[in-house]
Amino acid sequence: MDKVNRILYDKEYLFYLENIRLLEKDRSFCRHDFEHFLTVARLTYLFLLEEGCRFISREMAYSAGLLHDIGRWKEYQGGGDHATISARLAGSILERAGFNHCEQELIVKAIAQHRHDAPGEHRSPLSSALHKADGMARLCFSCVSRKDCRGLDRRPHRERLLY
Ligand SMILES: [Fe+2]
Ligand SMILES: [Fe+2]
Repeated sequence: MDKVNRILYDKEYLFYLENIRLLEKDRSFCRHDFEHFLTVARLTYLFLLEEGCRFISREMAYSAGLLHDIGRWKEYQGGGDHATISARLAGSILERAGFNHCEQELIVKAIAQHRHDAPGEHRSPLSSALHKADGMARLCFSCVSRKDCRGLDRRPHRERLLY
């Protein structure tokens, strides 16, 4: 997991995490911190294993999870959709981590697609697993802010622990 471990110490990555932490300081809804990233990373890999997908490496699955929301801070500052921003910011981090061009492309596309159900849009197994992992990573059924959360209306499957 050398490439994934490089991401953990990447200065840009840590800078984005810190920006998100500061901007979510007073947020009552769930945050986009390292714990969320790691949960999504682990679930992404688990779903790929369940699907029997062999050509996506564990490092790719983890990297997609660890990077999928890094652009949140820009969205808070009015910069646009965080999935698109995160995909853009992920490129140079993946390059420095040592992923080849093909791997980078698959991970970046999965990050760009992680947010919405897009029927008809082509998704790689990594993209589908990341989207599903992000949806299942929150414990909405036990959340104290659930009555005010718009996310739960849009994603009713979060009421459940498993699909
Ligand atoms: Fe997201
Ligand atoms: Fe997320």
